[in-house]
Amino acid sequence: MFERTIWWAADEASTVVVVDQTRLPHEAAVARWRCLDDAAAGIRTMQVRGAPLIGVAAAHGLALAMHDDPRSLDGAIELLAATRPTAVNLRWALERGRAVLEPLAPDDRPEVARRLSTEMADEDADACRAIGEAGVGLLADVHERTARPVQVLTHCNAGWLACVEWGTATAPVYVAHERGIPVHVWVSETRPRNQGAALTAWELGHRGVPHTLVVDNAAGHLLRTGMVDLVVVGADRIARNGDVANKIGTALKALAARDAGVPFLVAAPRSTFDPQTADGDAIPIEERDDDEILTVNGRPIAPPGTRARNWAFDVTAARLVDRYVTDRGVLEASEITGWLRG
Ligand code: MRU
Repeated sequence: MFERTIWWAADEASTVVVVDQTRLPHEAAVARWRCLDDAAAGIRTMQVRGAPLIGVAAAHGLALAMHDDPRSLDGAIELLAATRPTAVNLRWALERGRAVLEPLAPDDRPEVARRLSTEMADEDADACRAIGEAGVGLLADVHERTARPVQVLTHCNAGWLACVEWGTATAPVYVAHERGIPVHVWVSETRPRNQGAALTAWELGHRGVPHTLVVDNAAGHLLRTGMVDLVVVGADRIARNGDVANKIGTALKALAARDAGVPFLVAAPRSTFDPQTADGDAIPIEERDDDEILTVNGRPIAPPGTRARNWAFDVTAARLVDRYVTDRGVLEASEITGWLRG
């Protein structure tokens, strides 16, 4: 199986290979990106998705652009930045690319851009592993207290498919599994793109982590009846005050978790924290095609003419987040500003 979600092809010059998430769970296939437009289309159409991977993918897209035309930096950044609005990792990666590449002579840009993309992929893998190390103690504590498998509820796919390796929300789960701490994950299906069913269930299955798929609306029932020890989700952007944008439906899970007294944890690397955004109201929320809601497997599920709105993300207030599990340890909302400044 794949070791990573994105890499430079060994058999073909200047080609990026990605695990094509639009083909999962039916087919474990890859897509090849040979130019900037392939990369931009790949992010837009969700061949790759998940905030950390979107950032790393954009860095690879920039490298493809520099290979073809090292004078196209501004245009390439503009095209990639417009692919998806909510995940701040995209902006973060492109700003970093600009800071490194702009001062260079055009002839030097292709090699440096390619090196930078690989560096970012390595850093993301290390950051996610560190999230796993930071969070595993929280799962171990539950297991020590209860002497039974730790029950984790997650939403969307914040697994290794959404990153380069390990994942964010799944990293503590994978580290626990590796250490023999028994874990079971409740996976919510994540309408309308079904990232939970198609991706999270697939990757947990491949790593041998016990899991059960539930409909999105089951979370209230699971939490109220004591079937969940910890809710762990990823994030697409975390504002300065700790408000979290994540997959639509996350906010309701946070409310239900607070009502049930179950800890609600957000796992994310530094690249997902946005010092430029004061709070959740300032986070742009992607709205996608209403067809994703109105049809299933290409067939309509509502009467002709029905209107639908398809927001892809929502904002969970910082007051509902018990802890942020990061690559620099487990933080509270009040610690975020200091961390971002330092
Ligand atoms: O629309 P997607 O699939 O890109 O949304 C992804 C999510 O909401 C994830 O939960 C989030 O990016 C965290 S990824 C580690």
